Amino acid sequence: MLNPLAQELNDTLRGTVAGELLSDLGSRIFFPRGIISQGAEARQFGKVANATIGTTMIEGKPAALPSVKKFAPELTNAELVSYTPTAGNPDLRKKWKELMLKKNPGLAGKATSNPVVVPGLTAGISYLSDLFVDSNHPLLAANPSWDNYALVVETRRGAELHTFNMFANGGFDIDSFKKAMEEEAKSGSVRVLLNFPQNPSGYSPTNAEAKEIVQVVKELAEKGTKIIVWDDDAYFGLNYEEDIYPQSLFAEFACLHENVLAVKVDGPTKEDFVWGFRCGFLTFAGKGLTDEQYLALEKKLMGLIRSSVSCSSSPSQSISLHAFSEPKIEEEKKIFRDMLCARYKKVRAFVDSHKSSVLEALPFNSGYFMSFHTKCNAEELRLKILHEKQIGTISIDASTLRVAFSSVDESKIDEVYSAIYAAAEEMKK
Ligand SMILES: Cc1ncc(COP(=O)(O)O)c(C=O)c1O
Repeated sequence: MLNPLAQELNDTLRGTVAGELLSDLGSRIFFPRGIISQGAEARQFGKVANATIGTTMIEGKPAALPSVKKFAPELTNAELVSYTPTAGNPDLRKKWKELMLKKNPGLAGKATSNPVVVPGLTAGISYLSDLFVDSNHPLLAANPSWDNYALVVETRRGAELHTFNMFANGGFDIDSFKKAMEEEAKSGSVRVLLNFPQNPSGYSPTNAEAKEIVQVVKELAEKGTKIIVWDDDAYFGLNYEEDIYPQSLFAEFACLHENVLAVKVDGPTKEDFVWGFRCGFLTFAGKGLTDEQYLALEKKLMGLIRSSVSCSSSPSQSISLHAFSEPKIEEEKKIFRDMLCARYKKVRAFVDSHKSSVLEALPFNSGYFMSFHTKCNAEELRLKILHEKQIGTISIDASTLRVAFSSVDESKIDEVYSAIYAAAEEMKK
């Protein structure tokens, strides 16, 4: 038996692409009218006293130990130690939406939900898998992909992770993408994850490729397929070449067709260089969805958040909100982005000027990483590079080696890549 509150949300979403694509858990989940919503009512009407919430209050303010407070002197007690609402600090959500519109002018005039705060992009992907993926509903993603997708989708959700081939002829393999999408569509619905700039390859589509990707989705939607597109924008803004599609593809999918639901998974983790803050956002957009339907999706997400971490961390939300209004933040971010771009150029120059019969660089133009397709076993090569050259890299699968140039100083790049190429040559012997 479904809880009546879940039923209510499902009724609100009935007939929409979002309602059609819910998983088993997605259909069951709801946000209870329990402590949290009674607490919200009490904040509004409990003028004499608010005896609802499990925090220690002194004269209406949250208590904070001086030994804690001294490390964040500019935050109020509430900003530092209070719980945030389940869907996140409302001011931060508003600010992130404003920033999203600024970063993606293509979203102008297109309705989206309010971003919901989740504890990092990983949690966002996990919650989306809860909502939309189950043993009968697979997710499609690129091969190679970030390995955590498989852990979330296959191991955690017991669903299948289907893949398309990421590259052909030095660019995005649109034929493989189209074929895989059409194959998924035979079931009537498609759940697909696109991640640009990509982990592990460091690739983002060109303007022409972006157009083709959108066209594939549009054509299937026009034929009646219900499609949800997850845009994992973890590395947004780190584009190092001219012809890269400059926005999130979310801007294209947001209002593409009534059969397309777009979800943006993003956050300050890499964009604002705060990896351990554990703060991310999920934002929905679909042509024709009403505010009430966006709210129903938000409530479902809130149920998932409430039943797992309850709410996201306050200090990181408070600091992010303040930082986003600092006058120099854009200038400061540009300095870091330029530094990463300089590392990219150095890697690009090395790779372009060195031949190897063992290593073939996969296309890369953005983000934190580049990867090699290896003609030897990538794990054996990784171990050799680690133990003989004292350099850490990641073997993604038997024939893919990932190098995070984001974490290597520019002055060390030649040394690191020379060692990788030398180790690869030695593998032939
Ligand atoms: C493609 C991709 N998505 C998401 C994440 C995770 O982001 P977060 O640290 O905010 O969970 C990563 C981190 O490595 C990533 O590479």
